[in-house]
Amino acid sequence: MDYKKHITIVEDWPKEGIQFKDITTLMDDGKAFKSAVDEIVEYAKKVGAELVVGPEARGFIVGCPVSYALEIGFAPVRKEGKLPRETVKVDYGLEYGKDVLTIHKDAIKPGQKVLVVDDLLATGGTVEATIQLVEELGGEVVGCAFLIELAYLNGRDKLKGYDILPLMTYE
Ligand code: PRP
Repeated sequence: MDYKKHITIVEDWPKEGIQFKDITTLMDDGKAFKSAVDEIVEYAKKVGAELVVGPEARGFIVGCPVSYALEIGFAPVRKEGKLPRETVKVDYGLEYGKDVLTIHKDAIKPGQKVLVVDDLLATGGTVEATIQLVEELGGEVVGCAFLIELAYLNGRDKLKGYDILPLMTYE
């Protein structure tokens, strides 16, 4: 499917010079959204995922339906101060900012095969930090799926040795 026609490009948002890729118009179209999720579900089966991990907030939107379809769990990665129990945390750099990500310490079983899902691979900082959290808890990252890859930000360079599925790439 041509998913790009469902993405709205918003100029200069949230800052001047950023061309924001708005996925809400893809989510608005039930068939397009289902098709995108289904592709990630097939990928998750191929790589043998036993758990989906997704960073807030848009990683939840894409990751949760994947875990639902496969009847496997979903573990949220959240910004600091949002998870109620004991967490591990990591500092990360964003395309336009800096923050801390956390995950519950008991969210992943040692050796569990994890699929990381997010809407966007930009600089790769978020997925790199998410992988770090998964591995710190003994999980094995078997793949990383995204709706969109912004190839010009070279996020892939941070993912050497990991399997990646982007449904759309912007050069
Ligand atoms: C966006 C996006 C990815 C991340 C990609 O999330 O949803 O998670 O940035 O950028 P990176 O590859 O440069 O790290 P954001 O931090 O804006 O959070 P949100 O989904 O809660 O809006």
